Amino acid sequence: MAGFDKMGVILLVASLEFILLQLCSATRYYDFVLKETNFTRLCSTKSILTVNGSFPGPTIQVHKGETIYVNVHNQGLYGVTIHWHGVKQPRNPWSDGPENITQCPIQAGSNFTYEVVFSSEEGTLWWHAHSDWTRATVHGAIVILPAAGTTYPFAAPHAQQTIILGSWFKSDVMEVINSALATGADPNNSDAFTINGQPGDLYSCSKASTFHMKVDYGKTYMLRLINALMNDEQFFAIANHNLTVVGQDAAYLKPITTPYIMITPGQTMDILVKANQPPSHYYIASAAYSDAIVPPHNGTTTAILQYRGKYSTPSTIPLPNLPVSNDTTAADNFTSCVRALASKAHPITVPTKITTRIYMTIAINEQICPNATCAGPDNNAIAASLNNISFETPSIDILQAYYGGINGVFEENFPTNPPYFYNFTGEQQNITTYPTFGAKVKFIKYGEGVEIIFQGTNIIAPENHPMHLHGFSFYLVGTGYGNFNATTSPKTYNLVDPPEVNTIGVPKNGWATIRFIADNPGVWFMHCHLERHSSWGMDTVIIVGNGNTTNSKLRPPPAHMPLCSKS
Ligand code: C2O
Ligand code: CU
Repeated sequence: MAGFDKMGVILLVASLEFILLQLCSATRYYDFVLKETNFTRLCSTKSILTVNGSFPGPTIQVHKGETIYVNVHNQGLYGVTIHWHGVKQPRNPWSDGPENITQCPIQAGSNFTYEVVFSSEEGTLWWHAHSDWTRATVHGAIVILPAAGTTYPFAAPHAQQTIILGSWFKSDVMEVINSALATGADPNNSDAFTINGQPGDLYSCSKASTFHMKVDYGKTYMLRLINALMNDEQFFAIANHNLTVVGQDAAYLKPITTPYIMITPGQTMDILVKANQPPSHYYIASAAYSDAIVPPHNGTTTAILQYRGKYSTPSTIPLPNLPVSNDTTAADNFTSCVRALASKAHPITVPTKITTRIYMTIAINEQICPNATCAGPDNNAIAASLNNISFETPSIDILQAYYGGINGVFEENFPTNPPYFYNFTGEQQNITTYPTFGAKVKFIKYGEGVEIIFQGTNIIAPENHPMHLHGFSFYLVGTGYGNFNATTSPKTYNLVDPPEVNTIGVPKNGWATIRFIADNPGVWFMHCHLERHSSWGMDTVIIVGNGNTTNSKLRPPPAHMPLCSKS
């Protein structure tokens, strides 16, 4: 009898384990099928690359600290990779995604399973394709809920809604960038901005499909807002309703209550909205913020905040007062309020011992065009650079080359300082008009306290640059206009409650300083999140070496990384 009981217990335990595995696998495994899909927008139909036939793509929802697996089946026409924007992926750059930086593309007709490792992130992030311009249509939200047994640092909202801001191009996005690179000119603006895939009813043919967010009077909602646009910062607001921003880039902030926000491509924000206005319809609206010389697309995308209940539908729906598109003061007034929550439950640790300091100029440049037949400035082609190096993506991935010791793929000589010192934000100097080209990376030892001072320059076309680093979140300790001054600028640093983020706007003709500990060994892309700038070479790579313990060393590659040979 005793033996039978023992067997029974073992069977029971085994089947419980089986049931638990089944339950877990429902949320931990995702299938992403990349394929061409027909969509109708702005009165015409075209085929776009999607994940699982939807635009935007599916939402991934996890709890803090979980690991998920995403099997990407490429049924499209060309090779593509997927990046998990803002997910640090400790020791696991193999699943980070940027094409030819950490992997070669998943070729059409094949598949690859990403292991996405969440650690300290909590809030909202997003995933997007990281090959050419495919991210225009291949992107979606990542919702990271508090870990089991913990709660938000504010009253739990009644419900939440992801709001993804996007770009819609009437023509094929690959043609937009390929023709720009071929002629050397600026790529075309998008034809509309979108909220959850819809331009909204200020655009023709979009009325019936405008996104509606339904709310109950008196309840508080959390918007998980993502700027997935290709090339434009956005002002965002809801008519008659204040926004309370409580998180950015999956870290909590001291709440900011504001009538509007400014969000750069790559950034995400968690925003509480109280449905406290007379039940009716109100526009949710988003439009460009830009301090660039070339004006942005001037449309406004809208959705509708719709109260549930009985009332007569208004004949005109109120629009929010968005700042005008070049209102830098309005943009700065919001951005300068952003502070980390820095509470007991959500502490921050700002590095104070800096052992690696990089001073990095950001510039739009020219590439000499044979016979001066290009369509950019001076009949040359537009280029872009960091410390005067215009990044050239190698044909096999840097991670593989680094891990396997393959020579000739990249050089470890990315400069720690600009090659020329002059008045960066003053008159343009010819000496810096033409950059050097190459795959130059910066190697940093494990555990270093790193400070990067981004310095905007007045070369060709100054503007705000949303700089993004993979593999880390970092503290934005200071920003200013003009040239960074090594004596006076650091005195303005916020080392108490700087926001912990992954994408920051470097002010036009100004500077921004970030800090982080190099505690994530791997190969990590760093670039401007304006896609045209990244395509022109405003990129570099930071390689963080291994530490001395097993837990501070790069993990070995998974069994089946995509092959680099096929073009
Ligand atoms: Cu959002 Cu390198 O990417
Ligand atoms: Cu830029």
